[in-house]
Amino acid sequence: MKKDAEVISSSVVRWYPLVAESGSGCIVKDVDGNEFIDFNSGLVVLAVGHSHPRVVKAIKEQAEKLVHYSWTDFYYKPIIDFGERLSEITPGAHSKKVFFSNSGAEANEAAMKAARWHTRNPLFLAYTGAFHGRTFATMSLTASKPVQRRHFFPLIPEVTHVPYPYCYRCPFRLEYPECNMWCVNFIEEEVLKKFHTPEDTAAMFVEPIQGEGGYVVPPEDYFQRLKKILDKYSILMVDDEIQSGMGRSGKWFAIEHWGVVPDIITSSKALASGLPIGVTISKSEIMDWEAGSHANTFGGNPVACSAGLQVIDIIKEEKLLENATRQGTYMMKRLKEMQQKYAILGDVRGKGLMIGVEFVKNLETKEPAPDEVIDVMNKCFKRGLAIITAGKSTMRFAPPLIITKELVDAGLDVFESAVKEVSAELK
Ligand SMILES: Cc1ncc(COP(=O)(O)O)c(C=O)c1O
Repeated sequence: MKKDAEVISSSVVRWYPLVAESGSGCIVKDVDGNEFIDFNSGLVVLAVGHSHPRVVKAIKEQAEKLVHYSWTDFYYKPIIDFGERLSEITPGAHSKKVFFSNSGAEANEAAMKAARWHTRNPLFLAYTGAFHGRTFATMSLTASKPVQRRHFFPLIPEVTHVPYPYCYRCPFRLEYPECNMWCVNFIEEEVLKKFHTPEDTAAMFVEPIQGEGGYVVPPEDYFQRLKKILDKYSILMVDDEIQSGMGRSGKWFAIEHWGVVPDIITSSKALASGLPIGVTISKSEIMDWEAGSHANTFGGNPVACSAGLQVIDIIKEEKLLENATRQGTYMMKRLKEMQQKYAILGDVRGKGLMIGVEFVKNLETKEPAPDEVIDVMNKCFKRGLAIITAGKSTMRFAPPLIITKELVDAGLDVFESAVKEVSAELK
């Protein structure tokens, strides 16, 4: 760690001293041989677990054949196969086009550029609390924590942020469902009709479940109503599934919980089980940009695409969407039971294996408890559970989709012991 501090940029966050050396399934092992149940999935990447044998085999076989041959200049088969398979599993029966890149931020950059090119409109809408990346364009959409923007201005100016449907902390201080979802009507009445002219707007970026912002789940009919408004004004919906996609929520893509078909979908993290890749998938007619208008060197690397093809097959054959739903439902049940016992657990929410538990100092005032959640996180680490937080004071539960009930129980036992201790210290 000392050497790391000498060599590595100080801009990255280190949650606790986990020095990973190897991983297998849902377990990550450190350099001292300590084993941790991995509720992080290496930051929501290892959906099929660490070093799944089929993924490792595919990587080896592809690496022996062809490691790279610049997809934007020449042809090779794995991008077509992977693009086709991704088009099949993303919502909507319409014809689709696929653009590959290397990361989530790049996938969103491509979506921004495609939306501007197609519509010829400059403006974007995004949410408060959103996280879409850290490049200059995507940082302009990101509105999660001040540290992500501080001292980096100017950003791209044409982004308006509207409140995310965060019912536990409604920005309008209203109650669902009596509110009749004013937050969605607000976008039309107070933004589009007053200053953010729809005829100049290219797209709205949405996270179907806000990830970095605190694992926030919008109400049941929210996205259906939002899509109607966007369609009314011919504004594209870009669905950022970089964290929530590839089965995390129990569906291939989380927006499916709302039955909405977005115009553009972006994904990354879990796509190739740890190899860098990002993807932007749109209705065919949207990606009508001219040759040379957007490209990169490494996107859609053949080794990553081969790994990705395995990820899709594994999720299907090992029935991981079903497992995510089953284990997630069980996890939510246990966490809700804990919520009854410990007053620092203010809210339990999630879908599939994308679950957030928001810590509060007081159940009435809902004052966030950022120190307490960090205390619990550190205690978990000392006891063999790797888990981190999101938003101001939310613990995020995102284990690999292959997790078993035994490991869910083992992890939750560690979590509960830490919550119990921190709760007792508060008294
Ligand atoms: C929803 C979402 N969008 C975009 C990104 C950015 O992805 P990357 O870090 O690969 O650039 C992330 C990363 O956490 C994310 O969660």
